[in-house]
Amino acid sequence: MSGYALITGASGGLGLALAEALARRGHKLILVARQREALESVACELSQRFGVEALFRVCDLSQPMQVSGLIQELEQGERRIDLLVNNAGIGSAGLFTELDWGREQQLIELNVLALARLCHAIGQGMVAQGGGQILNVASLAAFQPGPLMSNYFASKAYVLSLSEGLRNELAPHGVKVSVLCPGPVATGFFRNAAIRSSGLERQQLLASPEEIALIAVRGLDKNRAIIIPGWRNRLVPPLLRLAPRALVRRIAMRMIRPLLPRE
Ligand SMILES: NC(=O)c1ccc[n+]([C@@H]2O[C@H](COP(=O)([O-])OP(=O)(O)OC[C@H]3O[C@@H](n4cnc5c(N)ncnc54)[C@H](OP(=O)(O)O)[C@@H]3O)[C@@H](O)[C@H]2O)c1
Repeated sequence: MSGYALITGASGGLGLALAEALARRGHKLILVARQREALESVACELSQRFGVEALFRVCDLSQPMQVSGLIQELEQGERRIDLLVNNAGIGSAGLFTELDWGREQQLIELNVLALARLCHAIGQGMVAQGGGQILNVASLAAFQPGPLMSNYFASKAYVLSLSEGLRNELAPHGVKVSVLCPGPVATGFFRNAAIRSSGLERQQLLASPEEIALIAVRGLDKNRAIIIPGWRNRLVPPLLRLAPRALVRRIAMRMIRPLLPRE
């Protein structure tokens, strides 16, 4: 592999599993997240296990100045990026008007703005170099509104729509764009967002991050537009298109309510 794969949110969860799946295939890595120690140990482990170069950059992607710094460093460096994986993301749940605005803004800065800026800056580089591939991580949540997780669902709808648009814009320039839309995955996501996942665990609805990463990498090989792991999950978008929107909203709220922490 000549260029690097840059993966955001690679210090744990799905990002770590994606980094491992890519290292296994010989990709050189640039890992981005906030926790230095976790990044350092992931980079060290992956380079030892798979014999690939693994660099890391500490960056809080919810801070626009830090995103600018990262982009500037990438532009000034010599490293060609062949694959951008915009994976970092956070969730939140509760009555929107009662949620802490700081956290909601952080969610938009990270899930929406940082992702768009990296697509813009690194996408520009890929167009100039005549090719590349982008994988944006959305969610099954991208296909519908999610009352009591409204901001999160809306952020993922943006990721899905941006990715589909960019796919057709950038294809003539040799840049392939895919979007990954997983259902629930067993990561720190729920704990970090104060979402109760015990019901999902009981019903065995949580996929493993390694399984999702493998499906994602295979989807990239096939240049799939929208990668939805799991046949049950793949039924969701067509069903949502058929169902009346008011019903979709009511069912979504009923499913999300048990995920909220008890008062
Ligand atoms: N888990 C699910 O059920 C699920 C389902 C569908 C889609 N997704 C999506 O999958 C993606 C990965 O989530 P996950 O499940 O792996 O969650 P996770 O276990 O909480 O991991 C999130 C990753 O993002 C990084 N991150 C968080 N805030 C950041 C910030 N401000 N700047 C830079 N990095 C930041 C974290 O690292 P640091 O703490 O070191 O910064 C961590 O590496 C997200 O986009 C999520 O929306 C998850």
